[in-house]
Parts: sequence; structure tokens; C-alpha cells
Amino acid sequence: MNVTSVTNEIFQLSINIDNILFEGLWEIPNGVTLNSYIVKGEKTAIIDGVCGWDGVPESLFELLNKINVDPNSIDYAVINHMEPDHSGWIEDLIKINPNFSIICSKPASDLLKSFYNYTNNIICVKDGDTIDLGNNKILSFYEIPNVHWPDTIATFDKHSGTLFSCDAFGSFGRVKDNLYDNMLSSEQIDFYEKEAVRYYSNIVASFSIPVKKSIEKCRALPIKIVAPGHGIVWRENPQKIINDYERYYSYQKGPAKKEITLIWGSMYGMTEKTITPILNILKEENVKVHVHRVPEDNISNILTSAWTSTGIIIAAPTYEYKMFPPAISTIDELGRKKLFNRKALYLGSYGWSGGAIRDMDETISRNRMNWEFVDKFEFKGYPSENDFNHIAGKVKELAELVKSIGKD
Ligand code: FEO
Repeated sequence: MNVTSVTNEIFQLSINIDNILFEGLWEIPNGVTLNSYIVKGEKTAIIDGVCGWDGVPESLFELLNKINVDPNSIDYAVINHMEPDHSGWIEDLIKINPNFSIICSKPASDLLKSFYNYTNNIICVKDGDTIDLGNNKILSFYEIPNVHWPDTIATFDKHSGTLFSCDAFGSFGRVKDNLYDNMLSSEQIDFYEKEAVRYYSNIVASFSIPVKKSIEKCRALPIKIVAPGHGIVWRENPQKIINDYERYYSYQKGPAKKEITLIWGSMYGMTEKTITPILNILKEENVKVHVHRVPEDNISNILTSAWTSTGIIIAAPTYEYKMFPPAISTIDELGRKKLFNRKALYLGSYGWSGGAIRDMDETISRNRMNWEFVDKFEFKGYPSENDFNHIAGKVKELAELVKSIGKD
């Protein structure tokens, strides 16, 4: 748990969460932070709230105590977003301080009732509305719907130029003592960039069109500091995380980087026979490749790799007239995240019937993924020399395509 000063009147409260599946689903081997912020004018506002993952508020109150903020003195609680990683503390704060006002969007106020049966002292805000805390602290609010739920707003303090962006511009990765970009080495910044793209692809990727609109809206503000709900605070170079997010949403429709993600699975080693030759060709072609075996690798990492890759290779056999189940469920998840317009190659072994291609085509069509395949190639049993030669030619073709259209 940390309390630090963003500026003289703004404090960040931060805790790290480990050993959970985020949203009950995503592996977070490097943890994640939950951030909230105190803004002090003549009145005091708290923006989002951190608490122990079990919902116990002692962690929040302990942090407030360190900056001499009595929870009873809080005038406003800004809930940028009702997902419980930002709002789960509110019930406990209400118990000890029934007098503060909650500031949120209209959709969030509806969720307040259904989540916490709370309907009192709610101020619903729209684009550009403001609350004056005194002492030059005027908070303004901007609707950024679907980043990540329809209720989401961002809060802006014009005096300091701080954008409290909630899920926007967030990242996975626990934060230790250095919570600010100006305190980090280039290696540490690289670490958070990798965690940011993993966060983006896992959590907000489906909403890339709203993300684009929201970033355009935020760009109109004189931002000097980006203070997200997850990850580090960007106060030396806030444009970096904004530019990074612009790249991330552009990857949805492709092209992405000059990279290929190879997703493969094998039952008895027949499809597996093709993997080393494929990797050798990609090495010769000097194309970066992310390799994921299914079901062994987790979907969180596969999504991250696929999000930044222009090319996808699926190597998986037929299983009971359809595609090997963990491979088809992976493709389906990529479709649910709206990973569009990839250049692709399929190959796989079948024992007696085939069927993987039909299954894959149905999944890609249903999700409107619009992947363009250089080939869909099935071989019977172990691949023959002719099969290897054919696959080699198609891998080269895909590699050349990725290099020609992918981004640096
Ligand atoms: Fe960090 Fe959508 O909650």
C-alpha cells in the first residue's frame, strides 16, 4: 500500500493485488494496482477507491490516515466507473460517512442502486459539468462510455492538468515504490508498456472504437498528468501512454506490428512435427514470432501476442470432425475481442475425416473477423515431405506479407 503526492493538493492511494484471476478470468502473474486519488480544495473529493480485494475498507482508511484525511471529512466521492475494482469500497464508506455526495454518470447511478441499493446524495454529471472544491480546484467530467463499461467518465483537474482516466490508459503490473514515470528506468517503462498492451487486449480491446473516440475527446484537454485507475502515473511524459493507446486501438483493424503469432496444439505429435520447421523459416525470414501451445498457455498471453501481430498461424488437428477444442476456443476468444483483418495460415493433421477448416471458417465468419488466409492446408496423419515443402512455401508467403504491410 502506498500514499504519494501527485501534486501539492492531489494524493494517490494505491494497493497491489496478486494471486487472483482479474475479472475472475485473466491471469495476472505480475499483479495489478488499484489506484484512487484524493483532491483537496476547501472541500475534499476522493476519486474511485481502493480497498482490500475482500472488500474490507481498512486498507483505504489506513491510507487516508497517512495523509490526515478523515473519511468523515470527504465531501464528494467521484465514481468514474462502477466496476467493483473502482466502487467496491463505497458501501463501507457510506456506513461511516452518510453525508458525502456521490458524483457519477447517469448509467452509473442506475448501477449504484442495483449493486449497492444506494439512491441518496447522487449528483449525475454529463460532459463538461463541473464541481468547484474551492482553492482553484475545479473538477470537470467527461463521458467516455465503454471504456470500459457504458457508465465510465473521466475526471479532469484543470489547475494541475491532471486527467483521472480510470480504466483508460491503465496497465497491469504491480507497482512498488516508483509509481511515477519520471522515477522509472527505460527497462521499467518497457515492462509497463508490455503490461499495458496485455491489459488493453484483455480488458478493453472489444471497445476499441469507443476508446478511439474517448482519446480524441481527452486530447482536447490540456493534459499534463495522466492518473489512471491501474498502473503508474504519467507526469513526465503523459503523451507516451496516450500515443501507446492510440496504437493499441489501431491494431484492432490491423495491420499491427511486423509480427506473427503461432497458436498450436497437437494430440499425438503429428501437427507438432510442423512447428520446428515453421519456426526455422520465420527465423530465416527475420520475423518476430510469438509461440503459444494450447491448452497449455493462458488466453491472457495469447490475446496480447495476437493483438500486436499482423499475422496468425493456426496449427491444430481435427478432433471429432471439428477443430481441436482449445484451438477453436482460442480463435473464438480472439473473435469476441474483435481481432479483425489478420493475415493468416491454417495447417493441421486429420485422422479420418477432416473438419477443422469448416469449424474454423464458421467461427471466423460468426465473429466477422475477416481474416485473409494465404492457405488452409490439411494433411493426413504425419506430414509428408511434400506436405512440409508446401507448408514452408506458405509460411514464407505469410512472412513476406506481414513484413510488407506490418508496422514497425
Ligand atoms: Fe478497472 Fe473496468 O474496471
